[in-house]
Amino acid sequence: MGFAQGDANYDETKVPKFTLPDLMTSFSGNPITTEKEWEENRRYEILQFFEKQVYGKVPGRLDEYSYKLIEENNKAYNGKARRKQVAITLKKNKKSVTYNILIYLPKKNPTAPVFLGYNFYGNHTVTNDPEVPITKAWVANNEAFGITNHKASERTRGVRTHRWAIEKMLDNGFGLATIYYGEVDPDKNDFNDGVHPLFYREEQSQPKTNEWGSISAWAFGLSKAMDYLENDANISNVIVFGHSRLGKAALWAGATDKRFAGVISNNSGCGGAALSKRKFGETVERINTSFPHWFADSFKKYNNNERTLPVDQHQLLALIAPRPLYVASAAEDTWADPRGEFLSAHYASSVYKLYGKSGIDTAELPAVDQPVQHTVAYHIRTGKHDVTDYDWEQYMTWAKTFLP
Ligand code: GCU
Repeated sequence: MGFAQGDANYDETKVPKFTLPDLMTSFSGNPITTEKEWEENRRYEILQFFEKQVYGKVPGRLDEYSYKLIEENNKAYNGKARRKQVAITLKKNKKSVTYNILIYLPKKNPTAPVFLGYNFYGNHTVTNDPEVPITKAWVANNEAFGITNHKASERTRGVRTHRWAIEKMLDNGFGLATIYYGEVDPDKNDFNDGVHPLFYREEQSQPKTNEWGSISAWAFGLSKAMDYLENDANISNVIVFGHSRLGKAALWAGATDKRFAGVISNNSGCGGAALSKRKFGETVERINTSFPHWFADSFKKYNNNERTLPVDQHQLLALIAPRPLYVASAAEDTWADPRGEFLSAHYASSVYKLYGKSGIDTAELPAVDQPVQHTVAYHIRTGKHDVTDYDWEQYMTWAKTFLP
């Protein structure tokens, strides 16, 4: 798998000297001073860059989109929740992909804000609810979960409940919508399955240089889930959430689709919230080598060449402005570069200011377990690369205050 995490640079004094590309100066050198200039010029050119040179473009439109309510029940979680399972079908060139959204909504509220997030091993892993079918899609093998043939089994039901504080969400008036990411695009280095082949022309077997890798495909899946969610009468707002590689996808979905009311990046690291030019922990070369299918092919020209990147990840975060954005790190997750994630949120805040919103003013990393919450929020919590109840508690406090 390419590089060992232990070989990376974790020494602050070895971070190369670099100049961050300025958010408020266009690629051609013009100063950006108003919201209008940001929206019409600078935001647009940054978005284009990320689209063509980093994550890759979605190569066209679907021929057909449909959703089907597979099942609905109002007795989930001891009667606290209404459960819905919705199948989304995407069609193009006579090919189709179907994926399932598992939704829990707090019954006490007729409409509720919802966190939308991908899970890593199947919808049945986030809950012990026996009514959630085991995914039939390809899953990564995992010894601890007893997955050896890329198939999930009953044995994996509920194995990831600790990452999804569902009862807490329900008690706080939030819902959850979750999707197994492998149903949208299996996370392996080929382009023969998932949504990519739907868009191929005859004889084509992989996306073109500037076209979508898997992160962009996952972000597309989130947007298409939003096509359903925004029409569900029990849902008021959707906050897109993701952990790690799925945090990268959540950020890109939030940047490209303004219907997401808020965005949460949990330990998203390299290619997510962390600044690439710091080359701290995982680097562009490492990520493109270990996961050659995640980004557009064109991103590979920045392997060990971050210096020449005309953008950095604070600009990805700025694309989300003025919508609420939460970036979270974990103290032991040095591979994801907590300081780089923090600085990104700090630098992106200048665009929030343009909109009269408050962000992270200080460039000094807050103490562990001391969240700083404005429209842009950040925390670094004790512990490892993971999603914990602590993380969800902070997200809910922030969402209650800053969500429209
Ligand atoms: C690897 C990868 C990270 C990614 C992580 C995850 O560690 O290098 O970029 O965020 O997997 O998704 O858990």
